[in-house]
Amino acid sequence: MPKHIILDSDPGIDDSLAILLALASPEIVLDGISTIHGNASTEQVTKNALSILELAKASHVPVFKGCDVPLVKDSLLGPETHGDTGLGYAKLPDPQTQPKIQHGSDYLIEQIMSRPGEVTLVALGPLTNVAIAIRKEPRIVQNVKEVFIMGGAIQHPGNTTALAEFNTYVDPHAAHVVFHSGMPMILTPLDVTYQCIFTKDDLNRLEKIDSPITKFISDSTRFYMEFHDEYQKIDGCVINDPMTLALTFMPEICDYQDLVVDVDISTGVGLGNTFADFYNYEKKPKNMKVAMGVRPRMFMELFLERMEGLCSKIR
Ligand code: BDR
Ligand code: CA
Repeated sequence: MPKHIILDSDPGIDDSLAILLALASPEIVLDGISTIHGNASTEQVTKNALSILELAKASHVPVFKGCDVPLVKDSLLGPETHGDTGLGYAKLPDPQTQPKIQHGSDYLIEQIMSRPGEVTLVALGPLTNVAIAIRKEPRIVQNVKEVFIMGGAIQHPGNTTALAEFNTYVDPHAAHVVFHSGMPMILTPLDVTYQCIFTKDDLNRLEKIDSPITKFISDSTRFYMEFHDEYQKIDGCVINDPMTLALTFMPEICDYQDLVVDVDISTGVGLGNTFADFYNYEKKPKNMKVAMGVRPRMFMELFLERMEGLCSKIR
């Protein structure tokens, strides 16, 4: 039986690749997408989600617009990483479809509460929608099957400040609500995603297939690779979000530790920093599983094979 997945996402180049991976993977069914501010404005990422779905001939997947701003902090978007539209150099036609009227966080509540124990939530952006959903309907904590979260940097440097990863830095207060909620969580921090680099050779392999999807991957990741080269001296690009999605059906890509993880919401240099109490000095119960080891090529082969399959189908 395939797993039912809801994506809470801010597409975004790597979020878009996660949407494509979800559509290309028979182990899962993508039930819907709630959108969230982050890589670009909520208005823009909602448009992007609809356009990606249309590109992949999957406009039956409903999209729900979520929160526009973080809970407490001012908004922070990521144009230098993902470009002004969030999709790098890719230019997709305006979507023909519209988002649904229901708010993204209400959609999460409705879906989780109507199918107790069945919905897998995959959160790929700042956690504002998820935090609001928890505050509005706390019973989702017991009723969600599991929550995969892309975010944080446990023993790895930050990618937005010296200490903080983008998703947790943009809305640390939302991350705090979610991390302390008691939901069954699996975290994919930069510690593992930064070991999985999508290289120019990987891209060349996909470019052998003539498809609008290959063109999208090529145009979007070219921008992303330029960012990684300029800011982090990485040859290629880190595709955090599809890696997180892949763990929903191929958990063996990573090794996990049960940890007590928290996020800094004080106002100093550590704002948004995620840290684990490895020796459990504070004697708190473990609150999540954290991917701390990874088999990078296992993930990349899966990603490339699935993209080859999708690109060959959609010409
Ligand atoms: C995360 O931040 C965004 O730039 C990416 O989409 C990913 O979800 C990585 O820190
Ligand atoms: Ca993202």
